[in-house]
Amino acid sequence: MKIVTSAVELQAARRAFDADTGFVPTMGGLHRGHEALMAHARSRHRHLIASVYVNPLQFGPHEDFAAYPRTPRTDEAVLEAAGVDLAFFPTQEAIYPAGPARQTEVRVPGLSDDLCGAYRPGHFYGVTTVVARLFGLVQPAAAYFGKKDYQQWRLIERMVRDLAWPIAVVGVDTVREADGLALSTRNRYLDPEERARAPLLAQLLRTASVAIQAGDAIAAVERTVFRQLQDNGFVPDYVSVRRQHDLAPPGDDDEALVILAAARLGTARLIDNREFRR
Ligand code: PAJ
Repeated sequence: MKIVTSAVELQAARRAFDADTGFVPTMGGLHRGHEALMAHARSRHRHLIASVYVNPLQFGPHEDFAAYPRTPRTDEAVLEAAGVDLAFFPTQEAIYPAGPARQTEVRVPGLSDDLCGAYRPGHFYGVTTVVARLFGLVQPAAAYFGKKDYQQWRLIERMVRDLAWPIAVVGVDTVREADGLALSTRNRYLDPEERARAPLLAQLLRTASVAIQAGDAIAAVERTVFRQLQDNGFVPDYVSVRRQHDLAPPGDDDEALVILAAARLGTARLIDNREFRR
């Protein structure tokens, strides 16, 4: 595995690969969820590039940018074991040559300000801006995103479609702990007592999807889950049922749905979702 940190080195190494190149962008603190993306991409492409960059633009002023886990040594070993050919650990200059504040922004209107975007203003502008820059450097045929960050995955799909970039955006199923908790770098913020309670989020979403399939009214189910989260010490931001493909509120004829939720538990902000059909 080759490791590079500058834009010039990345582009030079990329030129040695052919078009069949897969890409997995991450912020490091790698876990089995990230590994699933690498495995997916590894089995589909001749060349595999992964990046590790904690992107300042996607953190709010009071969020955890400084505290975000940075484990480059372990991440390197994980990428190597996953069969990554080229690992990009960019410096800030490689991503934002003139500084983050002067970077050309890419915004997907509407969807960026909904759901998590409503509670993390500007977050998704930071995500689409950094992913646009990474796509420009890496020039992948396909890029892999976790369904755990469902809104992020759909936003990247939209960005690529709107800008007519020849990149396949692939969503990969959420990897979970044995008790159902979705793996997340931020799960490290949970103390043992919170960690024991955290799987309730996934359980409630599963129960809710079954209730809607059985004919319960969506708005009532959303309210019930919200209240159950509160009753169990979570501070929920939202619980919302949407259409899978564009995350718009479902019409009566929409069958492919997803229930999404975000809730704080102690200092951690957990998100999860569950796809279902009705
Ligand atoms: P990060 O949180 O490191 O996640 C990198 C990728 O791993 C994302 O596509 C995310 O959805 C996926 N992922 C995380 N946990 C997962 C799990 N339990 N199962 C499956 N996939 C999982 O998401 C980001 O970084 C950043 O926003 C990024 C896209 C890199 C832009 O900075």
